[in-house]
Amino acid sequence: MIIIFGPPGAGKGTQARRLQKECNLKHISTGDILREEVRQKSELGQQVEKIMAAGELVPDALMDQIIRRRLASTNGAAGLILDGYPRNLDQAKYLDRATEGMEIHVVNIQVDEKEIFRRLSGRRYCPDCGKIYNIHFSPPDRPGVCDKCGSALIQRHDDQEEVIAERLRVYQEQTQPIADYYRSRGNYHVVDGNQTVSRVFARLSQVLEGFCQ
Ligand code: AP5
Ligand code: MG
Repeated sequence: MIIIFGPPGAGKGTQARRLQKECNLKHISTGDILREEVRQKSELGQQVEKIMAAGELVPDALMDQIIRRRLASTNGAAGLILDGYPRNLDQAKYLDRATEGMEIHVVNIQVDEKEIFRRLSGRRYCPDCGKIYNIHFSPPDRPGVCDKCGSALIQRHDDQEEVIAERLRVYQEQTQPIADYYRSRGNYHVVDGNQTVSRVFARLSQVLEGFCQ
């Protein structure tokens, strides 16, 4: 199992999707799962909508349930890429129990704060097909319109500047400390994320050699 770790805007989703495609792995993004629940206005979605819009963490009890179900519905967790989970020490310990001592490889993508703001404030996505753009780095052919399906692009609620700042604060306080937990166990890699998507991917593929053949 691979954990793609790093601050908001590090490129976790971008890299995990590429790993899924090129290395035949399965990508599980807890943020994507929660956003889909919000979109469907499910009971869970209604519980988490305000928390996410404020940039805070969803309670562990809800996250445990989500992860437990996802692990149960996949055929062997070894080929999984987790993106956005775990996000605090209790979640990391829960994952250990749920995967029963399976080998976990962690890639920590590090990106400077100025670059994070630029990436997140420039991110846009298509509400219909899910394709992600960036007005600074990877804009659509026609401004505001999805190249793939022609729908109007939108911005995530938590990509407003004040919410980005809160997400970064929460990351430093609750998520960053679990890097030490994984570093001390080995199979832990730091990748410089302040590079193009392709360069970051090349480095990721190198450190995860055994997973991508
Ligand atoms: P989540 O969806 O996980 O958000 P996040 O961790 O804040 O990270 P992002 O998705 O914003 O960034 P990313 O690293 O995936 O970057 P991306 O590839 O998109 O969580 C959202 C919320 O859900 C949380 O705040 C919380 O409320 C809740 N939640 C989720 N999981 C939870 C958990 N386990 N426990 C509790 N609560 C949880 O890239 C960003 C932009 O940059 C894109 O536009 C992209 O095109 C561009 N880009 C990417 N890489 C590059 C590059 N190398 N160069 C230039 N541009 C790039
Ligand atoms: Mg993401």
